[in-house]
Amino acid sequence: MKNIKTTPEAHIQHQLISEIEVGLLNITPYISPKFLYDPLGSHLFTAITLLPEYYPTVTEKHIFSEFENEIAHHVGLGGTLIDLGAGNCEKAKSLFPSIQPSCYVALDFSKEYLEDSIKKLQAEYPSIQMTPIGMDFSKKLSIPDSVPSNRTFFYPGSSLGNFLHDEAINLLRQIKSQVRGGGLLMGIDLMKSDEALINAYDDALKVTAAFNLNILRSVNTMIGSNFNIEQFRHLVKVNHAVNRVELYLETLEELTVSWPGHERTFQKGELIHTENSHKYTINSIQKLLEQSGFSSSTIWTDPKQYFAVIYAK
Ligand SMILES: C[S@@+](CC[C@H](N)C(=O)[O-])C[C@H]1O[C@@H](n2cnc3c(N)ncnc32)[C@H](O)[C@@H]1O
Repeated sequence: MKNIKTTPEAHIQHQLISEIEVGLLNITPYISPKFLYDPLGSHLFTAITLLPEYYPTVTEKHIFSEFENEIAHHVGLGGTLIDLGAGNCEKAKSLFPSIQPSCYVALDFSKEYLEDSIKKLQAEYPSIQMTPIGMDFSKKLSIPDSVPSNRTFFYPGSSLGNFLHDEAINLLRQIKSQVRGGGLLMGIDLMKSDEALINAYDDALKVTAAFNLNILRSVNTMIGSNFNIEQFRHLVKVNHAVNRVELYLETLEELTVSWPGHERTFQKGELIHTENSHKYTINSIQKLLEQSGFSSSTIWTDPKQYFAVIYAK
């Protein structure tokens, strides 16, 4: 038997391809939301944050600016800021004047987009030591030992809501075990009316629809499949039983998709699940943090209680 050796990058690529295949061949097909973020998907997400219907970004920004001094007091000055799913790094950038980090480590699955963002940011803030790291932290979050202590993990945009309850606890516990004297600064979306939720995830300009449909192009690139986005439509559901918004792609006709070694037939009206976005209450998020080993938390919110920013230790 041959002992075939691969590079770490090839191994990761192989695991990602297997992960997509398992989801596509499942009885109820799904694709992990991280595959929404190929280079085009990352740009589309940035466009979503500019939509008037997409309340999370604007509301979170409002909370950060309203409570800037208090938040800075909790985080402290001159530490290390570790941005989980940094994207265009705009939110971290808005914190720089108040918390003045000495070191900024930005992690993202979308490596190319992240590296472009960091290049621009480093030119603006030459005195902050910046490190972009391409990483999928949905399985394991591992911060290099060389990253200085007094670490503030920054997890805005309610991205925690993409994870199921046990996965969220797993990630929060890993954060807690690596803060080294620092804490967690996180943005969390709160439960609200169906109307506000549906408007935010199914905007009039159809940017979110394009973002969701683009996952099929991202999958085509990853596994060599032949998804045709014109045979699908973006679908949003609010699932009250588990307090979350769910994104799907619905097939508009019966179709067969193939890729090397596999194929799958979808019936008309079949759904591919692409994202969960859990919504929290102040109590439910505090409980989740306690279950993950955080012993204290301070919470700031907006007048409509649409969103919350939390600092936990
Ligand atoms: C909803 S966007 C948030 C971007 C930015 N932090 C913000 O709040 O506007 C989620 C970001 O996390 C990244 N991401 C999603 N899943 C990830 C994973 N499993 N590992 C690393 N990054 C991930 C995406 O590429 C994207 O940049």
